[in-house]
Order: sequence, then structure tokens, then C-alpha cells
Amino acid sequence: MIIGSISENKNLEKRVSVTPDIIKKYNSLGFKVYLNRNYASHLGISDSDYEIEGAKILENEEDIIKNSNAMLQVNIPNDKNLEKLSENQILIGVLNPFVNEKKLKEISSKKINCFSLELLPRITRAQSMDILSSQANLAGYKAVIDSFAYFQRAIPMMMTAAGTISAAKVLVVGAGVAGLQAIATAKRMGAIVFATDVRLASKEQVESLGGKFLTVEGVENLETEGGYAKEATDDFKKKQEDLLKETLKKIDIVICTALIPGKKAPLIIKKEMIDVMPNGSVIYDLAAAQGGNSELTKADEIIKSKGVEIMGEANILNKLPVSASNLYSKNMYNFINNLFNKEKKSFEINLEDEIIEKTMIK
Ligand code: NAI
Repeated sequence: MIIGSISENKNLEKRVSVTPDIIKKYNSLGFKVYLNRNYASHLGISDSDYEIEGAKILENEEDIIKNSNAMLQVNIPNDKNLEKLSENQILIGVLNPFVNEKKLKEISSKKINCFSLELLPRITRAQSMDILSSQANLAGYKAVIDSFAYFQRAIPMMMTAAGTISAAKVLVVGAGVAGLQAIATAKRMGAIVFATDVRLASKEQVESLGGKFLTVEGVENLETEGGYAKEATDDFKKKQEDLLKETLKKIDIVICTALIPGKKAPLIIKKEMIDVMPNGSVIYDLAAAQGGNSELTKADEIIKSKGVEIMGEANILNKLPVSASNLYSKNMYNFINNLFNKEKKSFEINLEDEIIEKTMIK
């Protein structure tokens, strides 16, 4: 049995799906691992780092694609490479089924089994495979580090002989995995942190990290059974807007993380709300790729509006690709481990397993 992975488009994606530390684990399951030359050299990981662990480096990507039982990628491969896949092969990645629906239907109709890891159910058994959590956690951390570096003032309160500097005030919009890590990181660096979310369950989590939860009063809890956010009602939006408009007058840094699965990101920070923010404040929008939580966000651009800078970050994981790849690679291995029948020494697509059923593109 062979596990294969080929380079991503390195201009757009710096992460890789297989890191050297995971090769021995695949070998002990009975897999050979095939990778192309310079697979992760852009991350400072050489081919020999892989070879020492037992991977095989091939010159030709086509040989990897054609011979692998399962191809492990971050993003969906390009059309040329997709065409090389054949019946009964497996493709696993973050295949973005909402955007790539047509393409994925076509490949599945050729009996190629595609699994998209962002569809994993948020259940305890899937936690070790949960790429959304592992990557969002790093994203939340990095958003704070990046925006704090950009911000032209100190973050913690400092009492010095020359006078006192007050602590920076941070607002985290959306307190899911990324948001909670952003709160924890900002707190550790001495900021005063506020947060808002549509799910009431997040209040306790925010407070346990030392954040102040901004409750939108008199509205229903907008949480689905799966623990995700529902789209906000007009009533909620109006009340949230009033609450945030007041709060934003004193906020130095906003970290936006609010998302609704499969939909455009909710628009939460409108232009007139940005206008009331202090000069020199920063909005760091992690939802930029899905349209942004702020009205002025543009993906991968820094927009200046009346003294406020709005940074739209489309793929923040490219800013810490080694850590992101390490976790992604482990998530991927745990998924394979669940999909592989150790007695029969083959993949078993058991649709009664919720993890397999939910991630498989049908
Ligand atoms: P996400 O990335 O889909 O969204 C981020 C946050 O934005 C969420 O907290 C969401 O409620 C919030 N949001 C959406 N619309 C908003 C609005 N208009 N205003 C303010 N906030 C808004 O969420 P994520 O981080 O993937 O977490 C989703 C759920 O999954 C959470 O309940 C989390 O606790 C749960 N989870 C469960 C795991 C498990 O294995 N049991 C693992 C990881 C997460």
C-alpha cells in the first residue's frame, strides 16, 4: 500500500500534508510513502529528512499520483493532476466542496473516493483529525502576534518613571476555536480583551480565559445542534451593531474570526462603526477569504480609513507553515488510521462510521 503526496502550488500554499515525523507511523501501518523531490524544501525540510525516516522521493509527480492508493493534499490538485487519478484511489484534503462542487462530483463519478476534512463532524472521536481546530488554533494565535506587531503602541500596561502606558484594548469577534486562542494569546501579552459571539455557550469559555463577554441582550441563542453558528436574525444584528458601535470607540485592535459554515462570512463591523474607532487602531480580519467580517476588508490588502487600518488576511497559515503542517500531517495520519482496516490491510469505506460518512464526497 502506498501513500503519496505532491507539492502544492507553493505560490499560494506553503503547508504540506506529510511531515517527516509521521513517516514511521505510516510505515508501521504497512504503507510506503512517496513524495516528489523538494517536496518541503521551502520549509527548510530537505528530501533527506524524509528519506532518513523511510519515505521514497520520486522525480516524477505522475508516478506518485498513478501508484498511490491514497493521495494526501492540502488543497484540491489542479485539473491536470486530477485527471491522472483512477478508480478506487483515494484523495484526501481540504477540498473546499462548496466551491469545487462540480469538479468533485465529476471525480467521484469515476469511483475515486474523495474525503474533505473540513466536513469532519465535531465529535470527540474526530478531535485528533480535526484540521479545522488545529489550523484555527494557530490562526488565532498568529492573528494576535501579527496585529500586535503592526500596532504602533505597546500592548501591556506599563508603569514607568516616565509615566504610565495604558493596556491595549482588544475585541475578538467570534469566539470559536480561533477566537478563543486569540483571546488567550492577547491576554498573555497583557491586553484587555472583549469578545462577542452569537452562541451563548461561548460566554463561559471567554470568561474562563479572562475575557469580557459582550452579551447581545434579549436575543435567542443562535447555535445549531452541531455547535455551529446560525445566521443572525435582523433583530440580533441590530442589537449587536448598537453594542459594538459603543464598544469600538475605545478598542485598539479588533480580531475578526466569525464564520458560518458554507456561507459568506457575516458582515459585523460596518463602515460607520469603523469611523468611531480611535486613530491608529487596527482591524485584523481572519474571515477575509470568506468576504470578511468588516465592510472595508479586502483579502490580502491593508486598507486605511480615517486613521484605522484594516488588514484582510486570506491565508494566515502561510505565515507559520511549519507548525501548521506538523498538525495537519498528524490530523491526516489519524484520519488514515481510522479509514484503514489493519486486519484486512486495506482501506474500508464504512459509511456507518460518522467520520467517514460525513467527510466523503458523494
Ligand atoms: P467557526 O470557525 O465556524 O466560527 C467562528 C465563530 O464565529 C463561532 O464561534 C461562531 O459562533 C461565531 N459567529 C458566527 N457568526 C457570528 C456573528 N454574527 N457574530 C458573532 N460571532 C459569530 O467555528 P469553530 O471555531 O470551528 O467552532 C464551531 C463549534 O465547534 C464550536 O461550538 C466549538 O466549540 C465546536 N468544536 C467542537 C470540537 C469537538 O471536537 N467537540 C472541536 C472544535 C470545535
